[in-house]
Amino acid sequence: MSAPNKSYDPVEVEALKPEEIARMRDEALAAIAAAGDLQELHEVKVAQTGGTSPLALANREIGALPPQAKAEAGKRVGQARGQVSQALKARQEELEAERDARVLVEEAVDVTLPHDRVRAGARHPLTTLSERIEDVFVAMGYEVAEGPEVESEWLNFDALNIAPDHPARTMQDTFFVENAAAGEDQSGVVLRTHTSPVQIRTMLDREPPLYVICPGRVYRTDELDATHTPVFNQVELLAIDEGLTMADLRGTLDHMVKALFGDDIKTRLRPNYFPFTEPSAELDMVCYVCRGASVGDPQRPCRTCSSEGWIELGGCGMVNPRVLTACGVDPEKYSGFAFGFGIERMLMFRHNVEDMRDMVEGDVRFTRPFGMEI
Ligand code: PHE
Repeated sequence: MSAPNKSYDPVEVEALKPEEIARMRDEALAAIAAAGDLQELHEVKVAQTGGTSPLALANREIGALPPQAKAEAGKRVGQARGQVSQALKARQEELEAERDARVLVEEAVDVTLPHDRVRAGARHPLTTLSERIEDVFVAMGYEVAEGPEVESEWLNFDALNIAPDHPARTMQDTFFVENAAAGEDQSGVVLRTHTSPVQIRTMLDREPPLYVICPGRVYRTDELDATHTPVFNQVELLAIDEGLTMADLRGTLDHMVKALFGDDIKTRLRPNYFPFTEPSAELDMVCYVCRGASVGDPQRPCRTCSSEGWIELGGCGMVNPRVLTACGVDPEKYSGFAFGFGIERMLMFRHNVEDMRDMVEGDVRFTRPFGMEI
């Protein structure tokens, strides 16, 4: 700062000359106009209005002027500083408005974008099909009964009229968990080969009339291939009441097939043999795809029934009186019928699944097309 000088002419002081003040002001105004964003404007503000800015330094020079010159120089500098701070304020508002408008666009939420990028899983079709079958029977007054998958050999075989030396034991290749103790009259332990032991448990536990449906996982020592799996699912049903006949069995199964495949699907019973039912039969239904039209017509082959016209559903029959007796049910008073079939097989022909391995591998690409059927 220059020292006070009595004969001082403000016009002569370089920093306070009108052109000089105007130049500083114009420079400041140009810098303000050129500031492209709020950060830049802040830097311009510090440079043009801060303690070491040209106009602030010029302002300090005023103190060194003789009193008569102070007013005019002060007015000039004050005006220039006022213009600069006004321009700063205006530019600040402009840039803030620009920023707000940009933020509104950039940060807008597009409510039409999918919110559920994480795909919901689908229930396995074996579960949904099994529940669908259960529903058909529950609607007829049946109860759902469940039992253990590790089962005593007696409940899995003996009680069902399959004695240890009965050839039928080899019909169901069994996983043995514990062998029966040699020479002792003691049952071994197996992975159940069917859900029939649940029916036995029900008869042992409760008094007839009984109407139960037994869904569940069962095990047989089959290799996993396109048509076999060592772990599969069955649904078996059992009805025990006074006066039940084969006609009741037929009517019940007919209703089930119609509920699952359509009202016009016919069924037939084919004689068969099971140790636990007498008489026994195999239940067939007319192929729901070709309705028999593919039989003998090479022009119209049917993949669902292999052009046989009929699809085999499962085994059934009137409960063998020996089984009733083993379970404490009086065969003179009560009779009953039973039916059993595999869910995997039904899923194969109902949904054209060609390879059973797809059902057990757990690849979501298999289950997803079945959707979220509840
Ligand atoms: N339990 C038999 C099986 O698993 C199926 C069946 C059940 C057959 C009821 C007849 C009656 O092979």
